Amino acid sequence: MTKKLHVHEYQPGLPGGPTLVLLHGFPVDHRMFDAMAEHISGRARVLGIDLPGLGESRGILPATASMETSAELVMNSFTAELGSPVVIAGLSMGGYVAQAIAARYSEDIAGFILLDTRMNADTEGARENRLKVAQQAFESGSSEVVATMALNTLAPITRQDRPQIVEYMQGLIEDQTGGGVAWSQRAMAARPDRSGVIAGLRHEILVIVGEQDEISPPEVMTEIAHTARRGLVEIVSDAGHMTPVEQPAVVAQHINTYLERVFPNKSVNPKP
Ligand code: MLT
Repeated sequence: MTKKLHVHEYQPGLPGGPTLVLLHGFPVDHRMFDAMAEHISGRARVLGIDLPGLGESRGILPATASMETSAELVMNSFTAELGSPVVIAGLSMGGYVAQAIAARYSEDIAGFILLDTRMNADTEGARENRLKVAQQAFESGSSEVVATMALNTLAPITRQDRPQIVEYMQGLIEDQTGGGVAWSQRAMAARPDRSGVIAGLRHEILVIVGEQDEISPPEVMTEIAHTARRGLVEIVSDAGHMTPVEQPAVVAQHINTYLERVFPNKSVNPKP
């Protein structure tokens, strides 16, 4: 597989600092992390990757739609400086890709952050519905078929009181193509249960979830943290399924705390 996904570098980081790779949710692209990335510690190199079919990777639609395909493409699309620990942070669909990366490339990764995601596969009914929606998106050529569903994943308080966030999300959704939406839905429909992968990881895992996330609620995310050998869950108030969009500074603070604890700054201050 030679194709590379679009990678946006938010900041270059400092030598020896971690490389934080952000994998977005559905049906948007890396720009869902724009506000949050501004608050990530300057030590970390921060990359946002557009997953297959979405954002600037809209032209990349491999024959096999699967989270494993996305994982392989992500791993082919960036390199980290020697000595820079790589941390994969994935939200919802990006979390499914992060788990596929954990299944195959765990030795290359130093840390995992899972935001508003699940580790189980779809039920039969959910899978059938996804494939139906994929077909509709493909035939219409637009993301319209999933727009309302995606906006409804925001917390009620966000939808009622923060129109600028709703509009921002709406813009991201409208920018996606029907082909990209269809590919993503087919890939998510095909994903397996990953609870065994989570349980087998030696890494410390940070789990972040919006208090009002109805797709991957706090109890589901808490179970992920409990399944992991070393997992910590942070529940974010006044947020639904899109925590980095709804509470960017709070989410960044949890990530900064995790990065500092797991990868402490070992550099020695120069003598005065
Ligand atoms: C997402 O936000 O990426 C979606 O909710 C994932 C899904 O449809 O399972």
